[in-house]
Amino acid sequence: MSEPDIISDDEQLERTLRPRSLDDFVGQAGQRTNLKVFIEAALARGETLDHVLLSGPPGLGKTTLANIIASELGVSMRTTSGPALERQGDLAAILTGLEPGDVLFIDEIHRLARPVEEILYPAMEDYAIDIVIGKGPGARSIRLDVPQFTLIGATTRMGLLSAPLRDRFGVSARLDYYPEEDLAKIVERSASLLGVQMDSSSAHELARRSRGTPRIANRLLRRVRDFAEVKGDGTVSKQLCDTALNMLEVDTLGLDKVDQRILETLITKFTGEAVGLSTLATAIGEDKETVEEVYEPYLLQQGLLKRTPRGRMATERAYSHLGVDRGANVAAQNSDDSLF
Ligand SMILES: Nc1ncnc2c1ncn2[C@@H]1O[C@H](COP(=O)(O)OP(=O)(O)OP(=O)(O)O)[C@@H](O)[C@H]1O
Ligand SMILES: [Mg+2]
Repeated sequence: MSEPDIISDDEQLERTLRPRSLDDFVGQAGQRTNLKVFIEAALARGETLDHVLLSGPPGLGKTTLANIIASELGVSMRTTSGPALERQGDLAAILTGLEPGDVLFIDEIHRLARPVEEILYPAMEDYAIDIVIGKGPGARSIRLDVPQFTLIGATTRMGLLSAPLRDRFGVSARLDYYPEEDLAKIVERSASLLGVQMDSSSAHELARRSRGTPRIANRLLRRVRDFAEVKGDGTVSKQLCDTALNMLEVDTLGLDKVDQRILETLITKFTGEAVGLSTLATAIGEDKETVEEVYEPYLLQQGLLKRTPRGRMATERAYSHLGVDRGANVAAQNSDDSLF
């Protein structure tokens, strides 16, 4: 099968498995309860919901939640993304085309161009935009009203958001990696939607090895189902899960090849020294942003990596996970040094 087929199958699967209501959305209890209250209050008052900022690592449910919020509010959602809005006019056209009460979802909102971001400020605050007409000394600015709307912004990089933009969101919800218990529920829900037979210990095994991420849990479930259909009778057992996940090179902590390469590189190539982010990214052949956005947060959360003022370092737990004796590693480094 060619790569694009695999990707579109996965996208199709994500859509099928996406929860449609807050009650279907598993985990993130605190954020879910808050959102429920804010949505009910807005509906009861007949007002638009305050602007919502959703942040957190990829695949934890930001897009899913945005869809759910719009659907619980009973309004339409218009979707765009930071990089897609190149000029002020792009955003102005979208804003003036909204129906009152609509949700505007801007994905990757940390990647908005500054001039476009500036159009958003008055739109968020006063439901108006300032458009400059003409050029040079004759240019003048006119104010246009836009319908009342709810902006939902999603970002994997909260730290890159400018303060003026961040401050204009009335609600800010940060999604965290899911604990095993919640991921197991997601796996069981997805398995039943896909008609996959699987026991609870297999669901937990998949959950443990999914990097705390629903998108990965669903993807692994699909791959494991393939193994079950080809190598077995279609039923997913704990043993089949183990075999399939090992063949997919997902280790016992759920680390994938890149995670493993990051730790190996820190421990072996740089013999436990602190390493700057750019050096680390170059050494493993990934770009810096991907390391910082996708890989590092989980390794930090798992206590496998630490940030020091001099750079990234592997922790004690990383050494024992990879089965490297820290003392021997340092001794080997010293004996290498003595050769020069
Ligand atoms: N709480 C949840 N309960 C059940 N399924 C979930 C949950 N959160 C996410 N999912 C599943 O994980 C998939 C990925 O979620 P989603 O696309 O919303 O992530 P995201 O945070 O927008 O990721 P990205 O940052 O890459 O855009 C969804 O298709 C959905 O099936
Ligand atoms: Mg998304």
